Amino acid sequence: MARVRDDFPTLAHSTHLISHSLGAMPKGGYERLKAFGDAWVNQSIEAWREWLPMVRRTGDEIAGLIGAPAGTVAVHQNVSSWMGIIASCLTYTPERNRVVYTDMNFPSVHYVWKEQERLGARVDIVRSDDRITVDTQKFIDAIDDRTAAVVVELVLFRSGYIQDAKAICRAAQAKGALAIIDAYQAVGTVPVDVVDIDCDFLTGGSVKWLCGGPGAAYCYVKQEHIRRMEPYLCGWFSHEAPFGFVFDRIRYSKDVSRFLGGTPSIPAIYASAAGRSYIRDIGIRRIREKSIRQTGLLIEMADDLGLKVNTPRHPSQRGGMVCVDFPGAEEAHRRLLKRRFLLDYRPRCGIRLSPHFYTTDAELEAVMKEISRLRRAT
Ligand SMILES: Cc1ncc(COP(=O)(O)O)c(C=O)c1O
Repeated sequence: MARVRDDFPTLAHSTHLISHSLGAMPKGGYERLKAFGDAWVNQSIEAWREWLPMVRRTGDEIAGLIGAPAGTVAVHQNVSSWMGIIASCLTYTPERNRVVYTDMNFPSVHYVWKEQERLGARVDIVRSDDRITVDTQKFIDAIDDRTAAVVVELVLFRSGYIQDAKAICRAAQAKGALAIIDAYQAVGTVPVDVVDIDCDFLTGGSVKWLCGGPGAAYCYVKQEHIRRMEPYLCGWFSHEAPFGFVFDRIRYSKDVSRFLGGTPSIPAIYASAAGRSYIRDIGIRRIREKSIRQTGLLIEMADDLGLKVNTPRHPSQRGGMVCVDFPGAEEAHRRLLKRRFLLDYRPRCGIRLSPHFYTTDAELEAVMKEISRLRRAT
């Protein structure tokens, strides 16, 4: 995997440990953006002949990464919009209005679902006891016959904890609720198989572990829902005949494009392809093996330095990120950034460090050495 490092120009001048937030840009990303510009300039309106099939193809490529059948994944701008679109398929009744998720979910996802209360939903939050994990049984016990939807963050952005999404989805469906997964912090570093998990929807994006840049988030929709769900957040690309320009109630497309809404983000879709190809070509299993070894190495080094590790220690419970905390961590993270160690800090998590397929052990040793030096200096 070290051989691909030259394809990622950022790695030449920075220690990139921030793939949980922004994956490194491959050179191919530039080439894809140029290809978009060339198509626009040279083909003008005719470029849509290429662009529209590319939207579908991109969904199918992403489907290939998550074990989904072709024709079940659509691409949209971001996960927050996807959550809004999924929510817009629901109708709340007093008998079934509960939406259940944890206080460890990404806040943007919470904002979208919480506002559903204006439409009759009632959000019920399952609290994490330690701010690292979520008790699966406690989550399952919160799901009942009045639950309309359950929203599971497969790998928690705050701690890297892998939730038992399969068990939670099974419990949700047993009560007649929709099981919705936010897999943003999983896809690209942790194997994901939608058929095995058996969820109803699974969303994620290209910005982080897929090294694809912003604007190309995706959603898998279980086959049986594709013709059944009618998102009221829709648009002309959701229509079965978008170029018929019929001014009437929408007739939903019979395929997954009913979830597309308005004009797709074509430049983002172009840019996203290059990063995704590394994940496909290297293979998620090899990426995961390396990630488990390197996150383990980070934890060992953090223990040696006496840092607080806010990430699960067992590899089967740990995603691609390690969070370490200590007094002065926030200031240390600012200094590390100035020294071109790319990482971030989150209150109550600490400094978040993420090795990816392009990270060397030497880089991990270097960041820990620098953390140790900064700690001694404060
Ligand atoms: C788990 C998770 N979900 C969602 C998001 C963001 O969603 P959006 O695509 O709406 O920016 C993030 C991070 O940015 C995240 O870590």
